[in-house]
Formats: sequence, structure tokens, C-alpha cells
Amino acid sequence: MDMFEPVTIDTKRLRLRPLQQEDASIFFEVWSDPEAMRYFSFLPMQNMEQAHARVVEKLQSLGDGNSMICVIELLDTKEVLGDCTLFGGVAHSQRAEIGFCLRRRYWGNGYMAEAADALIEHGFNHAGLRRIEADVDPRNLSSIQLLERLGFKREGYLRERWMIGGEALDTVLYGLLRSDRYQV
Ligand SMILES: CC(C)(COP(=O)(O)OP(=O)(O)OC[C@H]1O[C@@H](n2cnc3c(N)ncnc32)[C@H](O)[C@@H]1OP(=O)(O)O)[C@@H](O)C(=O)NCCC(=O)NCCS
Repeated sequence: MDMFEPVTIDTKRLRLRPLQQEDASIFFEVWSDPEAMRYFSFLPMQNMEQAHARVVEKLQSLGDGNSMICVIELLDTKEVLGDCTLFGGVAHSQRAEIGFCLRRRYWGNGYMAEAADALIEHGFNHAGLRRIEADVDPRNLSSIQLLERLGFKREGYLRERWMIGGEALDTVLYGLLRSDRYQV
């Protein structure tokens, strides 16, 4: 059985909705931005075809039911701000990983905190998750701050976990349990 079904979730200012192929051109802005991609597991993109191919791959990956990609839109204008995703789901362990990215012009408004909070709530209360984890570059302070504000706890430090652009990079592992958020 699939862990995740496509859903639409509204928050105070935002709508989280399923990814569509047409989103590729907006996501190219993020995926080609060296600042936004600084701590990502792939290098900044050079052309739009790469963004289209990545969206195709992402949409195909949804077929296994182990991930849920939410595009974040402003409720008022429908402008796309970025994405917030649950992926790498392991059903029998009731866990998945969280990832997120915003277009740079929208940083500093609390949008990702609002979107991730809603996605986490969905994961725990509707998708049967017990644990959500995040794998972050230790230098990625805005992501670390966001995770800690969301209640994630720092659980471990993994040395040279990634090889990106010829560089061996460390990871900090964060985790959030359903029981950290809710009493039952
Ligand atoms: C990680 C990332 C999404 C964080 O974006 P962000 O806008 O800083 O995150 P938040 O939504 O939590 O916003 C928090 C900021 O908004 C401010 N803010 C403004 N209005 C706010 C509101 N109504 N509610 C909450 N915070 C608000 C906060 O004070 C905070 O600012 P500060 O960082 O100066 O303290 C963004 O930096 C990003 O896309 N980075 C690149 C991708 C990346 O590295 N992803 C992670 C890979 S693991």
C-alpha cells in the first residue's frame, strides 16, 4: 500500500499542492541558483532541460508511493514559492525524510516554517508517520534554524557522507518523533 497520496493542504498564507510538469520552469530558478543550491546534493543546473528532466524523474518517483512532493503557492496570488517534500518513506518503520527549498526572493518571511509545519502535521496525523528525519549540511544554518524551530532534535554527525562536486561533505542528522509533538 502507498504511504503517501497526493493532497492539497491550505495554511494561513499558503497552499501545498502536488507537483506538475509545468512547474519545471519556476523550479529552474531555484535549481540554477548557486546560493540556494549551496548545500544541495547536486550542483546548480545550467539549462532548463535539466529542470524538465528532474521534474519528470520526480513525477516518476511518486509511483512507488514512498514520497510526497508539495509545491508551495501563495494562497492569494498562486505564485509558486518552492517545495516541501517527504521522501524515502519506509512503511514498516513509519518514517520518512523531509526536504525543502524556497526561491531566494521569498526567504525570511516564515513561509517554509508554515509549509513544513503543515506537511509534518499531515505526515504524523494522516500518513501514519512516527518519525521524520532531515539530513543537513552542518554549514546550512538557515535550514538548521528552521528544523530546530519546528522541534527537530540533533541526533548525529556523519562525517564525509556525501561526495558532491569532488568534495566529501559531512551531514548533521535531525529527527522529529510524533511523540515530540503530540502526547498520544
Ligand atoms: C532553508 C530555507 C527554506 C529557509 O528559508 P527561510 O525563509 O529562512 O525559513 P522560514 O520560513 O523558517 O523563515 C524564517 C525567517 O523568516 C522570518 N519571518 C518573517 N515573518 C515571519 C513569520 N510570519 N513567521 C515566521 N518567521 C517569519 C524569521 O524571523 C526568520 O528570519 P531569520 O532567518 O532572519 O531569523 C531557505 O534558506 C532555502 O530555501 N535554502 C536553500 C535550500 C536548502 O538549503 N534546503 C535544505 C536542504 S536540506
